[in-house]
This record gives sequence, structure tokens and C-alpha cells, in this order.
Amino acid sequence: MAGRVARNFIESLLSRADIVELIDSYLKLRKAGRNYVACCPFHQEKTPSFSVSAEKQFYHCFGCGASGNALSFLMSYAHLDFVEAVEELASRVGVSVEYEEGTAPQTHTDFSQRQSLYTLMADAAHYYQQQLRQPLASEAVTYLKQRGLTGKIAQTFGIGYAPSGWDNLHKALVTNSQQQNELSILGLLISNERGQVYDRFRNRVMFPIHDQRGRVIGFGGRVLDNSEPKYLNSPETPLFQKGKELYGWYWVRKLNTEQVIVVEGYMDVIALAQHDIPNVVATLGTATTAEHLSRLFRSLSEIVFCFDGDNAGQKAAWRALELALPFMEAGRQVKFMFLPREDDPDSLVRREGKTGFLQRLAQAPSLPEFFFNQLMPQVDLKNIEGKARLIELAKPLLSKLPSGAYRDLMLRELSRLSHVDLKKLTTLIKSQEVTVNPILITPINHANPSLVGSIIQCLLRKPDLVNYISAIDILQNINSAELPLLLELVRLLKNHPELNTLGAIYEHWRGSPYAGLLKHYALKAALPLNSEDSHLIAEFQDALKRLSQQAIEARIEVLLHQRDLTMSEKEELKSLLQQKV
Ligand code: UTP
Ligand code: MN
Repeated sequence: MAGRVARNFIESLLSRADIVELIDSYLKLRKAGRNYVACCPFHQEKTPSFSVSAEKQFYHCFGCGASGNALSFLMSYAHLDFVEAVEELASRVGVSVEYEEGTAPQTHTDFSQRQSLYTLMADAAHYYQQQLRQPLASEAVTYLKQRGLTGKIAQTFGIGYAPSGWDNLHKALVTNSQQQNELSILGLLISNERGQVYDRFRNRVMFPIHDQRGRVIGFGGRVLDNSEPKYLNSPETPLFQKGKELYGWYWVRKLNTEQVIVVEGYMDVIALAQHDIPNVVATLGTATTAEHLSRLFRSLSEIVFCFDGDNAGQKAAWRALELALPFMEAGRQVKFMFLPREDDPDSLVRREGKTGFLQRLAQAPSLPEFFFNQLMPQVDLKNIEGKARLIELAKPLLSKLPSGAYRDLMLRELSRLSHVDLKKLTTLIKSQEVTVNPILITPINHANPSLVGSIIQCLLRKPDLVNYISAIDILQNINSAELPLLLELVRLLKNHPELNTLGAIYEHWRGSPYAGLLKHYALKAALPLNSEDSHLIAEFQDALKRLSQQAIEARIEVLLHQRDLTMSEKEELKSLLQQKV
């Protein structure tokens, strides 16, 4: 496992970096008032609606809604994952990444040491590739040919061969003890109890695994016959985490495609590519993870999962569906392709060719179809109990969908099938969320921001306004779904005065339930300020005063309707009544 980047390092990194400078190195920014603008890199447009604020260290597109801080920009624009974005930004600022104590691997967290691991991996890949051209590899070459692969495709995927024998790689690559040590860290050499060191991969066809920048980070090695284990894979190393990487992703990402097919095996990816279907990735012997989905959806909009046609395949598909729900936004699609029994994508495409495969793909049910197709047979819609049951089954799942058009469509479909009024359904699903995650139920009314909402927006524009808030306890009496966010925000800003830009707050909540919600408010807060700071302060104070009044009134109301007030409650009531006038 690589080390976790230290939280306060990220904060200090963001405070050193300048988002305007960063984005300007990719797009030409033009100054417009207090902000900078450009044509949005995340959607097609002719007039600029992409705005970058130096003050807030935040960008926002009024056209497509893309927004975030410097790290988000690197993740979305340069398609880096979080740690890579941190590394990139750090190298631009000229500092080295700090990792949390204890989480850093004992060795090789250091940049130059990591580089030397990458180099060794590349050397090993090169070595295996060379071996495939040697006379001793004829059996391997025959094997690959018999599986329908051309030399060209083998070249594209960097396929190689690890010869028989215990120390071929060792002899070829190791000249000193440091290299031997590093090859052990990389899992290419193994030592037994007696301290003898030998090659992990012997007499196997070698498939290099690349990270999304194209660096070799691991291998899968296949036997040439029916012996076991069929595949031997690199263990997890400082360079290689299985739940994160996808075989083939490096090539797919370069295609600039909107669709990717997710399969299980190395050979499935390669066979499909051989048949001119290049947009395919394989999970590396694990089930699909949320990290995979998040990585894929960052670059493209449609994921097609391939599953076996049997029961196990149906179950795996359902698990993938549950995992995908939180990612489903308007414009994104997930499909489920089920293969004929006894087939995998490799055998299927070899039998039916590209056309056959694509025909089946075109018939793959989309997520909503698969979802309702799975649920409907479990209920009898002819009676009330059946409808109630359908809603019960759908509720916990649909509440995982982020709010937006996709979710609305799913609810509409549920309403159509269950003949339950859409409004009623919407309320029912919301009641589910309360138990799951109260923060997510917050209705966001863009047309008419509530008092709480406008206070949140002011705080996001100018975090140090939090100093005007003295009594936060009384605010608990406000009945507003937005209140949890406000209270959390106030608590955060009071405890962390250093979080003084929207960009920094955003970072603090990355990955938390607040992150999504914050984005909605950030949209409002990102609107160009046509008023001066003094106006903002006045607006804030006014909203805060009115909210406090409402809170006081609400509390008074409660106390007045309560029998047998304690002494302290009587005192409280007296003081509140005074404050009210
Ligand atoms: P499969 O058993 O379906 O193999 O495993 P395959 O991909 O069809 O392989 P071929 O066609 O016989 O060559 C699917 C994936 O599971 C992992 C590999 O990543 C493989 O591609 N696996 C399988 C292992 O890691 N080890 C194994 O022993 C078997
Ligand atoms: Mn296969």
C-alpha cells in the first residue's frame, strides 16, 4: 500500500498553489472583473462560461456545472487520480509530498526510489518481451497464435514470456544487492525460508499491467497448459494496488471514447482488441470496486459490464448495480451484458466476430431495465401488498442515487409500475434517506434560497464571516433540512480558521457526504460578486439576525407549550422573551 497523503500537507499545498496559474497553464484564461474566464474544457461551448476565482481558489462552469479546486481540476482535466493530482501539484509548487506517519511504506516512499522501481518494472517488461523472440519461446508463440493473436496485437499489449528456470530474470537484471531488494519489493523475485531467491514467473506468458500513465506496475503470467494456478499475478506492491487498477485502461483512456466494456480476464481484453473492439478493460481478478467506477466515470460516460449468463453472473451484476447507483447522474449510463453459458468475451468474439459481439452489446439492458427486471418478478402488482413490497425493495436502492434527472426518471418509472403517485414516492424515498444519511435529504431550492441557504452561501464566499456567529446552539431550533450543513460548516470554520477559501473547505470535505451538497452551494457562491465585501457583510449579518430571531421564536414556542418548566427553562424563556423585543 502506498502511503496516505497527510491531511495538513494537502491544506498547505493548496494554500501555496495558485489555481489561476495552474489552469492558465492548460487553458488561456482571460481576466473578467474579479475573476478569470475561458471556454469550458469540460463541455463544448463558444462563449466562455468557465470562471476561475483567485480569491476563492475555486473554478466553476456556469454552463455545465463543473466545479472544484486546483486538485479537482487536475483530476478532471488531466484525468489523474487524487494522489497523482497531489503529486503533480506538489511538483509544480516545488515541494515533496508528505505522507501520514505509519501509513507510508517503510521503504520507497521517496520520489527517486519510486522512480527506480518504475524503471526496474520497465526493464523486466522489456526482458520478458525479448524472451518471446527467443527460440526457447516457440511453445509460447504457438500458444498465442493458437489463441488467435497476431504478432501486432502481442506487441501492442507488450506480451512477453518468462522462460523456464529459477533465475533467468535474476541473472538478467540484478547487478547489485539494491536491485535484488527492489525486485523482491516488486514481487518479481521471491525468497524461501532458506533465504534462496528465485524468479516468481517461470514458463509463463507474461501480460504487463500498466497504470493510467502507461508505466508498468505489475504482471499477470499464464501457464501454457492446464496446470494450476492458471494465472499468477504480481502481489500488491508500492506501485500496484489491485482494487484500483484496471487492465487495459491505459490504452482505453487514450482512445477518447465515451464507452468502456468491463470484463474479467486479460485474454478477454486482448481478444476483443484483436477483433477491433479496443474499448475494454479487465478487473484484476477482483470484483469491480467503487474506485474503478469513479476512475472510469471521470473520463467517460458509459460503462458496460460483461457477466456470465449463469446465476453467479446475475448475482455479480446485481452487486455491480448497487455499487454503480451512487455514480448515476444524468448523462451517465451503465449496461449489463450477459454472455451465453460456457462463453467468455474471448470465446464469444472468436465465434461470432465483431458484429455478433456488438449486436449482443446493443441488446444489453441498461441499469434501469435490469433494475426493474430484477425487482418485478419478486412482487405481485395485482394487489396492494405487492405494490408496497415493490416500493420497499426499491427504496433503499433508489435512495443511493444522487438527486437529479437520473433519479427523477427512476422514480417516475417506479411510479408508473407501482401506480403510486410520484410525489408520494418522492417523499417515501426521502424518508428512507433520513435513516441513511440526513444530510443528503436537503432539498435545494435554487429559485428561492432559504435564509439558512443564503448564510451558507455567504460563508462559502467569505469564510471568515463565521466570526460574526456567536451563538450557534440556538440555531438548532430552526426547522430546516439545510441546517445540518450550516452547523457543520460553522463548526468547521470555527475550528479551522486556516480554511479560508472555498477551495480549501471543498478539499476538507472531499469524499464526505457534505461534498456533493457543498457543490450546489458553491454554484451560488461562485456567482460573480457585483457587490463589495461591505455589502456581503451586511447581507450576511441581516440574514443571520433574521435566522436568530426565527430560532428564538421557535424555541419560545416550544417552551410555551411545555408543561412544568424547570427553573433553568423558566430563566431561558425569560431571557429569550427579552431578546425577542
Ligand atoms: P478466468 O478463469 O475466466 O480466465 O479468469 P480467462 O481470463 O478466461 O483466461 P483464459 O482465457 O483461460 O486465458 C479471469 C481472470 O481472473 C484472474 C485473471 O485476472 C483472469 O484473467 N485469475 C484467474 C487469476 O488471477 N488467477 C487464476 O488462476 C485464474
Ligand atoms: Mn478465457
